[in-house]
Amino acid sequence: MRQMETDVLVVGSGIAGCSAALAAARAGASVTVATKATAPEESASWWAQGGIAVTGDDPETFVEDIVAASDGAADRAAVESLVADARGVVEDVLIRTLDVPFDTSEGRETGRTVTGPDTDGSATATTTDDYHLTREAAHSERRILHVDASTGRHLLGPFLAHLDERDDVTLQADTMALDLLTAEGRVHGALLERDGDLAHCFAGATVLATGGIGACYGRSTNPDAATGDGVAMAALAGAETRDLEYVQFHPTAYAGEGSEDTFLLSEAVRGEGAVLRNARDERFMPDYHADADLAPRDVVARAVATERERTGDVRLDVSDLDFDEEFPDLAALCEEHDVDWADGIPVGPVEHFLCGGVAVDHEGRTSLDRLFAVGECARTGVHGANRLASTSLLEGLVWGLRAGEAATGHDPEPVDAPLPDDSDPALPPGFCTDKRRRLQRVMDEHVGLERDADGLRRARGALRRLKGEVDAYTRTRTARDLYELRNASVTGLLVARAAAENTESRGCHYLTTAPEVDAD
Ligand code: SIN
Repeated sequence: MRQMETDVLVVGSGIAGCSAALAAARAGASVTVATKATAPEESASWWAQGGIAVTGDDPETFVEDIVAASDGAADRAAVESLVADARGVVEDVLIRTLDVPFDTSEGRETGRTVTGPDTDGSATATTTDDYHLTREAAHSERRILHVDASTGRHLLGPFLAHLDERDDVTLQADTMALDLLTAEGRVHGALLERDGDLAHCFAGATVLATGGIGACYGRSTNPDAATGDGVAMAALAGAETRDLEYVQFHPTAYAGEGSEDTFLLSEAVRGEGAVLRNARDERFMPDYHADADLAPRDVVARAVATERERTGDVRLDVSDLDFDEEFPDLAALCEEHDVDWADGIPVGPVEHFLCGGVAVDHEGRTSLDRLFAVGECARTGVHGANRLASTSLLEGLVWGLRAGEAATGHDPEPVDAPLPDDSDPALPPGFCTDKRRRLQRVMDEHVGLERDADGLRRARGALRRLKGEVDAYTRTRTARDLYELRNASVTGLLVARAAAENTESRGCHYLTTAPEVDAD
């Protein structure tokens, strides 16, 4: 079997993976980025709408907003370190290196001028552009840099192009990491698959940046490739995971006709003044939370689900906005789906983000030697029980850069890695599609927005059986869709287990059978 060597292997090519690759290369390492994606839009970062939150004049309010949105469960030290780095890394990487065309104010209401330290370290403000800052739910001020409501694609495209131009970074598209290569508690790289061919890629350090778990649910804002690969591979190798029960649902995904192919209506739309109304045309959010439509995302998601159930429909009323002027890309999406926004846009909650993941320290180190995790597959402690809007790109950038740098300094050590058995490649027709649907039905029904002890017990039983069926096939097969199914079922089972073991309602983990904890 083919063998490769690299100083740092990064698995995944969203903003966290790109940031890790950039930092490792800047620190002098040879870097290989293995990504399942064949195009940037197969990564969740590409689809990020709202933007990237940056520190304002008062960093402490940003810290407080993140901790409050997390339902008090965030790790304050992790949050403070994120906030401390936010402005500097945005300035360095996104503005100076990639020249991301963030919206300028052009007469719109703006917060302030965004400034940052000079790249040469002279600590004075150098950015003169007056960027437009938008607001999203649970932010106490305008602090979100954005490009229309399509921020992700405007930074991921340039990021990948920048890495592609570097001699020290090799981008391997259409390449899936099937398993980590481990020996004596240390991770030595990964088994890679491309087009049916397998290779052992030995690395001085390995950084997982595989994104989320949307494929575990029937409806998600994630791309199809979000099969929980990093969480599953790390857990199977023995790494610690944490907070997996905190699966965030976004309250405002399009939920009208043809919404199997749903799309997101950014929280920035509510930040700019849109409101939610039920089928009786009543504004209901003031009855659920003092911050009404700008309450934390978990609260709004549950309220939307309740009102849909109670009255039959919930719509995002954009009549107080110049919707097509302020959100031309969302207006275009509505037109593509034949939605007349003047009547209010039908919305409902769908799976959006995993707040927990592979447990890491402030540099992205997991509990296994030479294994790092960054981005959505990692649990940094920043999000606690519910993530604040527009902090995921930021977390991916900050932790990606830190982990990429920390991962350098080790030579690859080829070890005796087991040769995978793919002696029996055939699978029963429809096996992966059918099992994935079963997984999604179980997760939707029992491990969704609202949970109860009995449902979680059933889910664990069903998911254990499903995993057993899948494992019987992975012993003699290395097909990519089978490994994606294995990863989704391992991750689903871990999420259900974490949810069953946590008997307190908090943030995104809402048990109908348990009272909410008092976050104070
Ligand atoms: C949104 O634009 O509403 C999503 C932003 C996020 O998930 O942080």
